[in-house]
Amino acid sequence: MEKPYPPVEYAQYLGLAQLLTSQHPKSVEYGRPAHDEMLFIVIHQVYELWFKQVLHELDSVVALFRAESVDERNIGTAVARLQRVAIIQELMIDQMGVLETMTPLDFLDFRDMLTPASGFQSAQFRTIERTLGVKRDQPSLFDLVEKWLERTPFLELPGYQFWASYRAAVDEMLADDRRTIEAHPSFTPEERALQLAELDRTRQSFDALLDEPTHERLRQEGSRRLSHRATLAALLIHLYRDQPILHLPFRFLTLLVDVDERLATWRYRHALMVHRMIGTKIGTGGSSGHHYLMSTVERSKVFGDLFNLSTFLIPRSALPELPEAIARRLGFHFPRE
Ligand code: HEM
Repeated sequence: MEKPYPPVEYAQYLGLAQLLTSQHPKSVEYGRPAHDEMLFIVIHQVYELWFKQVLHELDSVVALFRAESVDERNIGTAVARLQRVAIIQELMIDQMGVLETMTPLDFLDFRDMLTPASGFQSAQFRTIERTLGVKRDQPSLFDLVEKWLERTPFLELPGYQFWASYRAAVDEMLADDRRTIEAHPSFTPEERALQLAELDRTRQSFDALLDEPTHERLRQEGSRRLSHRATLAALLIHLYRDQPILHLPFRFLTLLVDVDERLATWRYRHALMVHRMIGTKIGTGGSSGHHYLMSTVERSKVFGDLFNLSTFLIPRSALPELPEAIARRLGFHFPRE
């Protein structure tokens, strides 16, 4: 049977004529060919291609979460796509090693010819940051996930004093930690005081978790991003992730942390590479270079609140049991009607 589509030629399909003639070393143009400039160009182009693919995936996840209510079936698709992003990011981190086969001296052969060009100007990188929600200047994945968490129907747990039981379990856990610190034979008085102060901070953090006005204040101050309701929903999803209906949401939240962590790792890896390549010189884009790049590692986290959730996790054995009716709503059951 004849195929309905005309035959396709490899090079044409992939646009190779354009792709493979898009490397134009400045050192060649200026008559002082530097061997390593080809690698420098190709590496950047490969990154830009991966950025394109990452955006393709992220945009599709954003589209799924834009819906008024997110179809549960779409969470599986979002998980699969974020998983792909995370694996691409691993590749992007490893790829720095290829660039590091160029020595700083080799780089100097052509670096001066590149000013003021810099990765700083990568429009796709900035779009990735905007799409994830590094800054809050448009509805980003961060905003959409926050709204989705706030809509979690199980948050109310009607008629069930969940948070009172949870608080009691955490109180017990913190009291136990205090006893351990106070009785620990190898602490000096200073170490003990430090540990107790740390424990107090955890306590305050926990109080803020259960007290909306305190949480809001911390949010205004910038030490929390996610709304109170969304934070509680994310915590519930973590605690009861073994309930079938919460399992995919749990994997989704974990992948958001994976993607955020890998982006921070990429920033750090890039900053280390820059340090060995140009020391503490300023960047071609005009920033302080290594120092500027290191400062972006922590402050550009998007889902830091999800990382922090681990502070409030309690062992499964201490977890308040869900009443039968709620557990049934969270499990898979097939009514015989
Ligand atoms: C020899 C190799 C490299 C050096 C020395 C270098 C240096 C720098 C420096 C100094 C900055 C800070 C801005 C500035 O003042 O220019 C920067 C930013 C940046 N570079 Fe590189 N870079 C290199 C390779 C790469 C590669 C392969 C990529 C991949 C696309 C990349 C992507 C970026 C991005 C996205 C930024 C902006 C980061 C931000 O503002 O958070 N760089 N780079």
